[in-house]
Amino acid sequence: MKSKNSLKDNSKLWKVAKKYIPGGNMFLSKRPDRFLPKYWPTFYKKSKGCYVTDINNKKYSDMLMSIGTNILGYAEPNVSKAVIKSIQNGNMSTLNCVEEQLLAKKLIKMHPWSGAAKFARTGGEANAIAIRIARAFNKKTKIAICGYHGWHDWYLSSNLTKSNSLKDHLLPGLSTEGVPHNLKNTVYAFNYNDLESFKKIINKNKISTVIMEVSRNYTPENNFLKKIRKITEKKNIVLIFDECTSGFRQTFGGLHKFYNVEPDLAIFGKALGNGYAINAVIGRRAVMEHANHSFISSTFWTERVGPSAALETLKIMEKNKSWNEITMIGKNIKKQIRYIASLHKLDLQIEGIDAIPNFYFNSNNNMKYKTLITQEMLKKKILASNLIFCSISHKDKVLKKYFNTLESIFSKISKVEKGQKDITDYLKSPIAMSGMRNK
Ligand SMILES: Cc1ncc(COP(=O)(O)O)c(C=O)c1O
Repeated sequence: MKSKNSLKDNSKLWKVAKKYIPGGNMFLSKRPDRFLPKYWPTFYKKSKGCYVTDINNKKYSDMLMSIGTNILGYAEPNVSKAVIKSIQNGNMSTLNCVEEQLLAKKLIKMHPWSGAAKFARTGGEANAIAIRIARAFNKKTKIAICGYHGWHDWYLSSNLTKSNSLKDHLLPGLSTEGVPHNLKNTVYAFNYNDLESFKKIINKNKISTVIMEVSRNYTPENNFLKKIRKITEKKNIVLIFDECTSGFRQTFGGLHKFYNVEPDLAIFGKALGNGYAINAVIGRRAVMEHANHSFISSTFWTERVGPSAALETLKIMEKNKSWNEITMIGKNIKKQIRYIASLHKLDLQIEGIDAIPNFYFNSNNNMKYKTLITQEMLKKKILASNLIFCSISHKDKVLKKYFNTLESIFSKISKVEKGQKDITDYLKSPIAMSGMRNK
């Protein structure tokens, strides 16, 4: 008889998806081979709070929260209500919705250094808009980057300039297939907290724009952000903080508010609409003015669900101070993981801003251990890897089960590390492919 906790082969429907959709879906980070090839549940029927029900009616608690879109939990009732209202009153019309100017005003008020906003639906789009405006402003072309900024030609062309240039920027191994070769030497990557690598690029090239994440895995050292701000200001370089992921996780708005450094443009996405598609570019008026002189336009950037969801999300965030809550949850998760690792004498590195903890093992078996974690968590009906996107819906009961399960997995890993067991004694799945910066 099969045990209640046995793994189910879920690969059949994914194979169909891959037949009709290249890659199987539209987002690398939701592909089953990034988690548990063959056994990952892959398709869902329902999501609520921090729970997801798959198409076989199995209900899981979710530590990944759609890779960071739902700080307030899935299907948050008031956000749903606002969205339903906008649908019932007509999501689209020949005329424009007022929600977008209300959202612009709100974001500008939260970031008094800014004076204007533009909206898109995805982070990639918002990044493209910001880069276009920045180039239009100072009439220069070249870009320096530090972080992950999306799938577009301009970003991937960094790997044309220097192969593997994006290796340390969240997603290693990004291919340049289909990216025009004449974009070579237009984008240069520098490493976080490495001011010398930054200065080298700035001094050698006529840089238009620096686009960077405020913080992802590391906190700024040695006034890194402030120094970048000073240099870019002096050289008439536009500084963009891409806060698609960091926004609303530690402050009400950009993480740059916490570090007290003001950019020229900032980008918000992921969590802004609590699961609904809305991204924003905000910026200083003098720079944003140039959006008037460049063709930036798209039909579905005017639909009403996105800004309606964002307005309600911001209202709830402001009321709950959700950034404080998820930061506390994340700090506790880091502390517990560190403690469990120490109990089993595991050499573990824990990184990430507090609300997005991630960890890896200083071991050649790291990817195998990561896969084992997903496998064992899945048996206990938890969707997890070595990355956690904290949500206010991660209540004590959910976290307790997560820590207990992690403890028993770390105990197994410790036996492998000590040579008492072989990883194949435990690991029944093919190894997960490296995803977002899994060392
Ligand atoms: C900092 C940052 N910029 C841009 C993007 C791209 O956003 P999207 O996947 O919505 O296109 C992401 C997505 O993870 C991101 O984290």
